[in-house]
Amino acid sequence: MTSLFLHKKRMGHSESRPVWPSLPLAIIEEIFLNLPGQQVICVCRLVCSEWKSVVDSTAFWRKRCRSEGLKPLTIHKVPRHWQMTYFLCKMRRNLLKNPNADEGFAGWKIEENGGDGWIKDCIFVPHPDETVTKCFVTSYEQCKKSQLINLEEEGYSPAIMDEIQPDIVISDWYAPRWDCGSEYQIQIELLNHQKRTVQSFVSAPVFFPQWNDQKWEEMTYTFKDYGPGVRFIRFKHGGKDTQFWAGHYGIRPSPESTNAIRKKKMFFRKLGQQLGRPTQSLSGWLISKFLKRNNQILEENAVKLCEIQPHETVLELGHGPGLGLQVAVKLLTEPRGKLLGVDYSNYMHRMATKSMQDHIASGKVTLYCCDVAEMPLEDSSVDKVFHCNCYYFWPDMKTAASEIYRVMKPGALMVTTLRLDHIVGFASRNVFYGENWQPKVYMKALQSCGFTDVRMENRRDKFLPFQAIYATAAK
Ligand SMILES: C[S@@+](CC[C@H](N)C(=O)[O-])C[C@H]1O[C@@H](n2cnc3c(N)ncnc32)[C@H](O)[C@@H]1O
Repeated sequence: MTSLFLHKKRMGHSESRPVWPSLPLAIIEEIFLNLPGQQVICVCRLVCSEWKSVVDSTAFWRKRCRSEGLKPLTIHKVPRHWQMTYFLCKMRRNLLKNPNADEGFAGWKIEENGGDGWIKDCIFVPHPDETVTKCFVTSYEQCKKSQLINLEEEGYSPAIMDEIQPDIVISDWYAPRWDCGSEYQIQIELLNHQKRTVQSFVSAPVFFPQWNDQKWEEMTYTFKDYGPGVRFIRFKHGGKDTQFWAGHYGIRPSPESTNAIRKKKMFFRKLGQQLGRPTQSLSGWLISKFLKRNNQILEENAVKLCEIQPHETVLELGHGPGLGLQVAVKLLTEPRGKLLGVDYSNYMHRMATKSMQDHIASGKVTLYCCDVAEMPLEDSSVDKVFHCNCYYFWPDMKTAASEIYRVMKPGALMVTTLRLDHIVGFASRNVFYGENWQPKVYMKALQSCGFTDVRMENRRDKFLPFQAIYATAAK
């Protein structure tokens, strides 16, 4: 194995200590495939540029999905965002081990083993999930069993649990024997890192009479907005027969999809928060990948439609990872030409600063980590403004519009580009708060602040339809 040594000179003598062995990337990738996804992003990716390139590659996440058997919901469409697909699929799966007695009692802790105790048996009537052929059976005194799910080990990092708080959906199936009465109950606890209860659900006991139709019934419960700190789920269920018959005539629980964690409304709301102001977190990283992949064409067109001249001072609002900045800076070829950018996400500010570092060092580009509604720029100092997928997140559209107007020179042009069909889709899923995403709200605010010639055009680039909104700061 090749080794690399770092030589550090200190107090007149040199000291050697080993650093990372230079392993082939294929081996690095293989190692990463066996580490938790969260750790790969939050730790390994930060080590060096080679490791970063492995973690950032689509191929890595595609391989990971395949090796863990994670399939996208729509199997007819090949996903473009394998990173996103990976984490969303992880969110969907059943977190209970051995839910249907396929491996005996593996994974379960027997809490009460009354009467003749728990056994596993074949099902009597078809289960709603036709792949289920076995189930657990209780006896004539209380039988209860439990499973403790460690959310972090299952890929739900503290950040996901605290920031996103995905809905926790419980679904437990249970069936009686037709010739014997029985009783069923379930208890679920959400626990913090000290295994103290944060929230719980205890069902009322469900009773079946003797001579029943033996049908499977489903018990469902969803935990929502349970607050930060949840690290474990304790699942406990069981029951007994009510006839007190020796043997195994009690209730037959079979948790078909118990504890699948789904993110729906909550997911989209958190997605909106991250799109509006990405943070340095797993979700922020996924958003930055999403922006880089999706918004290149919109950013390029916003720059193009501004008709930037080489000597101008140009401002991008909400630059995100910096795709538009990179295009615009190439056009400002005269020494007088300057590029400014503002974004109030620290994470995006750092990301763009890194990608523009040479231009920043030369004084060509200045980036500010600040709100569009309060920019450290002089009055009437900017010739062109462009932005892309940004205004939807401005809480007070008029304040933002009048601040932009303030910094623009008389007659300066502002262009924003968007894909209305995407925005309408996001809005219908409550990704945005309120109605500020609507072009008419944005355009009305511009007009009320003195912008003229405010208009929206339908355009197309490489078969991709998009919209451009223009406004002129007539002063
Ligand atoms: C959806 S992202 C779009 C980023 C980039 N323009 C693109 O299309 O890839 C929105 C960006 O606007 C920034 N942003 C939103 N509201 C802002 C505000 N009021 N002031 C400064 N930045 C803002 C966010 O931090 C985020 O980086």
